[in-house]
Amino acid sequence: MENFDFYSPTHFVFGEDRENECGELVKKLGAKKILIHYGSGSAVKSGLLGRVKDSLDKAGVAYAELGGVKPNPRDTLVYQGIELCKKEGVELILAVGGGSVIDSSKAIAAGVCYDGDFWDFYCGKAEIKKALPVASVLTIAAAGSEGSPSSVITKEDGMVKRGTGSDLIRPVFSILDPKLTCTLPAYQTACGATDIMAHVFERYFTNTDEVEITDRLCEAVLLTMIKETPRAIAQPDNYQARANIMWAGTVAHNDIVGVGRSQDWNSHGIEHELSGLYDCAHGAGLAVVMPAWMEFVHKHNCMRFAQMATRVFGCQMNFEGPEKTAMEGIRCFRRFLHEIGMPINFEELGAKEEDIPALADNMKINGTRDGFVKLTRDDVCEILKIAAHAKL
Ligand code: NZQ
Ligand code: ZN
Repeated sequence: MENFDFYSPTHFVFGEDRENECGELVKKLGAKKILIHYGSGSAVKSGLLGRVKDSLDKAGVAYAELGGVKPNPRDTLVYQGIELCKKEGVELILAVGGGSVIDSSKAIAAGVCYDGDFWDFYCGKAEIKKALPVASVLTIAAAGSEGSPSSVITKEDGMVKRGTGSDLIRPVFSILDPKLTCTLPAYQTACGATDIMAHVFERYFTNTDEVEITDRLCEAVLLTMIKETPRAIAQPDNYQARANIMWAGTVAHNDIVGVGRSQDWNSHGIEHELSGLYDCAHGAGLAVVMPAWMEFVHKHNCMRFAQMATRVFGCQMNFEGPEKTAMEGIRCFRRFLHEIGMPINFEELGAKEEDIPALADNMKINGTRDGFVKLTRDDVCEILKIAAHAKL
């Protein structure tokens, strides 16, 4: 295990109806005027936004509002949010929604405190030095943004999707009411589940030895997702399934399962090019990319993939041919994704094989991380070709 610092100061407020406490939580932080930032309508339709406002009114907290965040949140709305916060003297941003709303809130929070263009943080020109506090009421278990220091924004001009990170934009509190996720369509539930599993796999495939504790934590989250995702899809109102998935989503990405070990993140890098270009759901893109990446790199450490296959998917170990066990595990993962309704190849995702060179060029500009296996541009093309033609 490697040395590490673990700093995850978000106050998680978990359970049924806990969103009614948001007013008091904001008041305790001393914010008198806040921005409520939300998405394209689900929070209005479900009545959540109304309950959040009631809670703020009761606590005597004033608010401005900005809705309309799209999945794969855009820079254009971030600029509007920054202007609005400056004009209204906003002191805290309350995200009511999923990863897209939280990420947009984080971008606004950093942008308000910066004299230049907020995009500088996303294209590597500047580091976040100051930000307004961000808090969240989460409505989908997926991106883990409710506990992460990251934010991913898409530049409308050219649909370029880029990320940034800083502990300054980690939410100060996040309210997690599993009941709020019961209105999710099956497809969004599955996209979220795929992202949660991908966040674990990005950490699981490591070059660091002797990481039993984080290996076992990773496996626990994966096994939970394999059990609970089909249950939540079959019974959307199953509170216990939703609750287990919701907490799995947070621990999958606040790094508790990834400390002290090298991580990969190249599947995410490749996927961000897909959701940038096609505006597809992040989880759907990962369902296509991640098993393809696994097939491409498994020989780098067959035993680690065989460990995943046996411990997570219950495959039999083939001691004469661990590579076969490794490949069986990857097949099981892809089959699981198919069973929960995710696309598994380009056709199902709506992607085009002729775009592969452009996708890989973009990746090259962005640069690939060292990760589990350092990838060249040709490697990225190969992975995308596997993804294009994947079958069960
Ligand atoms: O906009 P509304 O109307 O709310 O609809 C949303 C949206 O269409 C809907 N939804 C959310 N909660 C709902 C609901 N519909 C019914 N009932 C509910 N309770 O679901 C759709 C997807 O929402 P979105 O916020 O886009 O989903 P997610 O949480 O998966 O976020 C995806 C974004 O997060 C980024 C992704 O790249 C993508 O842009 N990521 C952020 C990370 C981070 N900040 O740490 C890490 C991730 O790896 C990821 O890259
Ligand atoms: Zn993700």
